[in-house]
Amino acid sequence: MPRSDTTHPRPAWYFPEYAPVGVDLGSKAAVAVYDRNQGTDPHADDALLDRLGVTEDTHLVDLACGTGSLVVQAARRGAVAHGVDVSEEMLAFAQARADRFGVAPHWHRTGFLDYAHRGPLADVVTTKSALHQLPDFWKQQALLNAAGMLRPGGAFYLWDVIFSFEPAGAETHLRQWIDAASRPDGEGFTRADFEAHVRDEFSTYNWIIEGMLQRAGFDIVSCAFPRPTHAEFHCRRR
Ligand SMILES: C[S@@+](CC[C@H](N)C(=O)[O-])C[C@H]1O[C@@H](n2cnc3c(N)ncnc32)[C@H](O)[C@@H]1O
Repeated sequence: MPRSDTTHPRPAWYFPEYAPVGVDLGSKAAVAVYDRNQGTDPHADDALLDRLGVTEDTHLVDLACGTGSLVVQAARRGAVAHGVDVSEEMLAFAQARADRFGVAPHWHRTGFLDYAHRGPLADVVTTKSALHQLPDFWKQQALLNAAGMLRPGGAFYLWDVIFSFEPAGAETHLRQWIDAASRPDGEGFTRADFEAHVRDEFSTYNWIIEGMLQRAGFDIVSCAFPRPTHAEFHCRRR
């Protein structure tokens, strides 16, 4: 799938969002392993879509959609669903999933920063486990882009590795997370995967994300911190 939706050439200082960050998922085999490790669960996707009020004809955009389960479940309930991802391999997996279910969501090989939404403004924009791929300055730009594609009153949902622990306790919390979440090779995400996440990717604190959401034009309707390392934000476009 060729890259799509780029609005205009970017300046030399622009973030290279098509270059992989952290763990390399740039092969068909790596994507299949990712999907298994991630524990893709259509029931969980449906529960989230219910919470966000996604029904027939809802316009939904999932940014960094990965293997596309949420987008496919949205399309299965009749939503006009768009999946956006920079990875050709992820989108090929997502497309195969859609084909299996006989639905045809819109796939866009482009990024948080480059995606230019066309057609009616979206009712719902989601992004899960992915905003941390951008450094903070670029997260803010991505959130502005997300707000720009949503109608006023539309919902924005964010789930990610976001830190709500006190900064002075960072080392302890990160060690506890990695110890508890790591699985042996072949049985899930490994210690090396989590170490690479902390070292090479750009997860940040909840109070930074909250400020960014507000500056992007969102009101935070609810947030939850099920673990000191993970957070979800449910927002409304002002
Ligand atoms: C950890 S996966 C999460 C995928 C999916 N949202 C999920 O919940 O399983 C991160 C995804 O972000 C994509 N990605 C990385 N940088 C991106 C960018 N700048 N714009 C859009 N997608 C990006 C990767 O290709 C990958 O599919």
